[in-house]
Amino acid sequence: MSEPKVIYLKDYQPPAFAIEQTQLNFDIGPDSVIVSSRLRVVPCGSDTDLVLQGENLTTLAVSLDGVPVDAARMTETESTLTVRGIDSACWLETRVAIDPWGNSSLEGLYKSRTMFCTQCEAEGFRKITWFLDRPDVLSVYTTRVEADKSDCPILLSNGNCINRGDLSDGRHFAEWHDPHPKPSYLFALVAGDLECVTDEFVTVSGRRVVIEVYVEPKDLDKCAHAIASLKRAMRWDEEKYGREYDLDCYMIVAVDDFNMGAMENKGLNIFNTSCVLAHPATTTDAGFQRVEAVVAHEYFHNWSGNRVTCRDWFQLSLKEGFTVYRDACFSADMNSATVKRIEDVNLLRSAQFAEDAGPLAHAVRPASFIEISNFYTLTIYEKGAEIVRMLANMLGPETFRQATDRYFERFDGQAVTCDDFLSVMEEVSGRDLSRFARWYSQAGTPVIDVQDEYNAESQIYRMTLRQSCRPTPETPDKQPFHIPVRIGLLGEAGALALYCDQLATQELADNTDVVLELTDTEQTFVFTRVPERPVPSLCRNFSAPVHVRYPYDEPALVQLLARDDDLFNRWQASQEIAIRHIAAELDGNPLSMDRWTGALEQCLADAALDSAVMAELLHLPTMSYLIDRLEGHDVLALHAARKTVEEKLAIALKPRLHKALQAYHPPAQYQPEAGQIARRSLRNVAARLCVIAGWEQAADWIEAQVRAATNMTDQLAALRMSLLLPDADVSARCLDYFFQQWSHEALVVNQWLAVQAADERGDTLVRLQRLTETAGFQWGNPNKVRALVGTFAGQNYPQFHRNDGQGYQWLADVVGKLDQSNPQLASRLVTPLTRWKQYGARGTAMRNALQGLAGQDLSRDLYEVVHKAL
Ligand code: PHE
Ligand code: ZN
Repeated sequence: MSEPKVIYLKDYQPPAFAIEQTQLNFDIGPDSVIVSSRLRVVPCGSDTDLVLQGENLTTLAVSLDGVPVDAARMTETESTLTVRGIDSACWLETRVAIDPWGNSSLEGLYKSRTMFCTQCEAEGFRKITWFLDRPDVLSVYTTRVEADKSDCPILLSNGNCINRGDLSDGRHFAEWHDPHPKPSYLFALVAGDLECVTDEFVTVSGRRVVIEVYVEPKDLDKCAHAIASLKRAMRWDEEKYGREYDLDCYMIVAVDDFNMGAMENKGLNIFNTSCVLAHPATTTDAGFQRVEAVVAHEYFHNWSGNRVTCRDWFQLSLKEGFTVYRDACFSADMNSATVKRIEDVNLLRSAQFAEDAGPLAHAVRPASFIEISNFYTLTIYEKGAEIVRMLANMLGPETFRQATDRYFERFDGQAVTCDDFLSVMEEVSGRDLSRFARWYSQAGTPVIDVQDEYNAESQIYRMTLRQSCRPTPETPDKQPFHIPVRIGLLGEAGALALYCDQLATQELADNTDVVLELTDTEQTFVFTRVPERPVPSLCRNFSAPVHVRYPYDEPALVQLLARDDDLFNRWQASQEIAIRHIAAELDGNPLSMDRWTGALEQCLADAALDSAVMAELLHLPTMSYLIDRLEGHDVLALHAARKTVEEKLAIALKPRLHKALQAYHPPAQYQPEAGQIARRSLRNVAARLCVIAGWEQAADWIEAQVRAATNMTDQLAALRMSLLLPDADVSARCLDYFFQQWSHEALVVNQWLAVQAADERGDTLVRLQRLTETAGFQWGNPNKVRALVGTFAGQNYPQFHRNDGQGYQWLADVVGKLDQSNPQLASRLVTPLTRWKQYGARGTAMRNALQGLAGQDLSRDLYEVVHKAL
């Protein structure tokens, strides 16, 4: 293909026309869908050429104020329709035919199993009709849908249903009106044979909202958790942000074939089944928590995204970063706050740091892109959320709430920018955030080097922070970031009181925990009345998305692990200790395990410590984080060293872990609530480590668990453990049993696929290839492809990086093939290959696989990723 066009933020121009009203009619026939649209078009300036976007549309008619438009007055290309000479308000009508059956991109209007559904974010609406398909064109929509009544008894769109009825020939129609002006990316339509579970929510001001969750009939028993989560989210947003829901009904539809997790279409959310359906027998604790988080996330978008939307797609993090921050706070309130923080930081450091260190690094507000679909990234979402978290912490709860109130009030009904968000924060707090704004424009993970000095005589402790940041593609030279570093100082007997003249007295209110704001390249903070040499507890609760380096010795880390009063930093210390042991193992100089395991044993014996946090303390750092931290080592050596350390840890802790395992009694009734989840997670990590430590009864115990577990959390945990056994017959029996039991449950089969894709033993590739040829697998279903291919390339280090390079080649082949049908999916799956520079000698084979792709005819999505990576 010819080189695709790069779009730049600096080229942004406001739209030349407004579309005040959008009236759509969808005529769903047996083999085509006709979309008629009437747009109230109003010129905004002197420009009289209206240039509409469209893709894969067959244009049947175009008219202006009821009169067909002369061919001489209009030009149609592959992607645009230009109508000239529009100098006053008018009604523009178009009629197009589209083909949802042939649409495998899962963008626009498409067929998923038996239903028709839409996905319009970011630029899918143009696959439905000619339009100004950009987020700063807000319009009021009225949508009529007509279809065969027996095929499609349910006809849904945004807003409220204003009319419905029967037509001749077994057809019927429904008409929907959404009173809130919205950008086209929030449009949605669903037509199909669905059933629904109904509930009700009464808002704080007493308005009744009907809740409807639409699913295939077989899934009716899996909706309760999503509904309960939605109601909790609705209440939480009223209480924490003063945000009330604004329509009479809130609908959620579960769809099998979906590229992402879910979509916040106004009043009609469309969800990947994996993010909405939940039942104890088929869903793990993690699955329940994911449903709760995604349901809340999409609901929170109603204000942060829909009522106040983005001016252009460079501002994507305006809605996503803020909304992820909101859903993270919600989940923290509903579950264990520390564990939620640990999970989020783990994801950020494993995946977002890697993104920031690789060839696709981009700022939270990027300066350019080829294909916006490639920018739904961990940087936009997770790092964007960290930026909002830093702001919220710097402003404090009251001021931050005042600022968000003002933001929602001022920009309601508008399409705005990240700078607009920041300017409200500045205005309300009176702070200067000009340096802080660099978090939006500069990519890369800052590194803070901490040095300290203690003088026993003067009792003065000086801490020097120095920041730096590696060059990234768009921003090679960095200005200093504004970084809030929360710290405490630990003495022999516990936290020390802090005295520092450079900090406002209010900052010292709590006296043992302060935020140092680093705004220059280097700053020194002087603490007085420090009675002993302290151990610094740095970047508490991960107060900023940075790397912190400090020359700790192991006793200091063990002290932090044992009794830092910041729970997050106890976990952080355990990760640091593990990294040291793994590094030492790699260097052939293993360290004694005694101090580390001694501290963990104390933690295990501490009844006051949350079991969920304890479980996290027993997890070693992820491979991806290790690759980042221990640069320059071969990945297979690193993987082996990690395994060795894990085994040593397991052996040392085995007696205690075994006791913990024996002490576990399953609850009479499964509940996905924090207490039970915590006990199950500790129990399952304890069992896993016992298996690794060579527990004699392991095989029997695992097989019994797989057959008799009464919930999916325990069953799946046991199934995964079966792959750690030396005897492959046991795991084969477990996998068979599991499949026989669950072959009718698509989401469980996906888990079964993922377990096998993560199998590190034998020739996984051959087995996976065979799996793709079985009935349980479909290339057209992204969940299945991600379970198999995504898990293999992203998590199975020894097999993906096998010496003969076949792991890489298999991924490249799969990606090249998928690109023909679903470019978004293909360009996401290729990510592991783009990290080739981190893999030393193996990188050459990875790069060759990418090079092979570059020689093919690629979608814009895959083109951008492959070419930036090479
Ligand atoms: N906007 C969705 C969310 O974050 C994600 C999404 C993006 C879904 C693009 C589909 C397509 O909630
Ligand atoms: Zn979102």
